[in-house]
Amino acid sequence: MIKSVIDILDLSTEEIDSLLATAADIMENPGKYAHACDGKILATLFFEPSTRTRLSFESAMYGLGGHVISVPGSSNSSVAKGESVADTAHTVSCYADIIAMRHPQEGAALVLANNASVPVINAGDGGHCHPTQTLADLLTIHREMGRFHDLTVGVCGDLKYGRTVHSLIEALSRYPGVRFVMISPDSLRIPTFVRDALGAKGIPFRETVSLEDAMPELDILYMTRVQRERFRDQELYEQVKDSYILTPEKLQNARAEMRILHPLPRVNEISVAVDQDPRACYFKQMLYGRYMRMALILMLLGHPAPAPSRPLIYDRFVCKKRTCITQTEQELRQAFYQVGDSGIYRCIYCESKAK
Ligand code: CP
Repeated sequence: MIKSVIDILDLSTEEIDSLLATAADIMENPGKYAHACDGKILATLFFEPSTRTRLSFESAMYGLGGHVISVPGSSNSSVAKGESVADTAHTVSCYADIIAMRHPQEGAALVLANNASVPVINAGDGGHCHPTQTLADLLTIHREMGRFHDLTVGVCGDLKYGRTVHSLIEALSRYPGVRFVMISPDSLRIPTFVRDALGAKGIPFRETVSLEDAMPELDILYMTRVQRERFRDQELYEQVKDSYILTPEKLQNARAEMRILHPLPRVNEISVAVDQDPRACYFKQMLYGRYMRMALILMLLGHPAPAPSRPLIYDRFVCKKRTCITQTEQELRQAFYQVGDSGIYRCIYCESKAK
């Protein structure tokens, strides 16, 4: 059995603690790890644009002594000829020991993992999740705040399509005393699959459109970009794209110890004047991403245990979401899971609710 990381829930709290410890050790003793992956090959398949995630994965593998092969963009691979994700998995497994993939469709990374014979890391699947960004976020929070518990976390911007937010909320929900303030325009509110998961665990959260109102109570402010590429209607994007612009003036009501995170890239949502603020952590955050990805590659290449799985219900429901991988992948079985004991069933690929 091979362990892959498709969702942050694929990592237990103990595994996250271990990754944090390994990343810290790599930062202090890089030479100790310089040959840890000698002879191993990472394949990076990026079917959507990326700067940080792809380069940090590749830099991570080089830092471990390994090699990298890469497909930058679907136009440069047989995906452009119509090859399925499943066949891509069979193919790349012949050439690499571990795969990191970004794909525009929700669930594509899960399909890849289910058909690969090597570990797969989800480097972002559509508007669904981005677990390794969350690992970078967690290391940043841990180093800056010294804890994950008892934090009020404001997530601001595009909470509907912002996959980094979905994964971060899932990750932080496991720590006691965490509460969330969801700051977004009405049209970009947090999706129901995240809302239901919070409800099932009894995690407190509130929603607001006002960043200014939320600011004084926050320990963490996690800003996000409005994801233009996910909008079908560009006019709607134009209406919301500048909903939140963080400036030094707006930070006057923030706590001195609050920390500002952003997965980047930013467009307009954080003024460059904020970069000088000692509370701004987003450049450190992207550096930490390299060390957490190094730790994750090490774990997955040495990890014999299967991923924890949830009971699946096959072929009872049909997913209709336009951007779900089920819409294009041939002969992919419909599979749903139940959210706790709620009687609500969600697609395992994109988390749409069964109707
Ligand atoms: N945070 C993040 O995913 O950045 P890239 O899109 O540049 O990889």
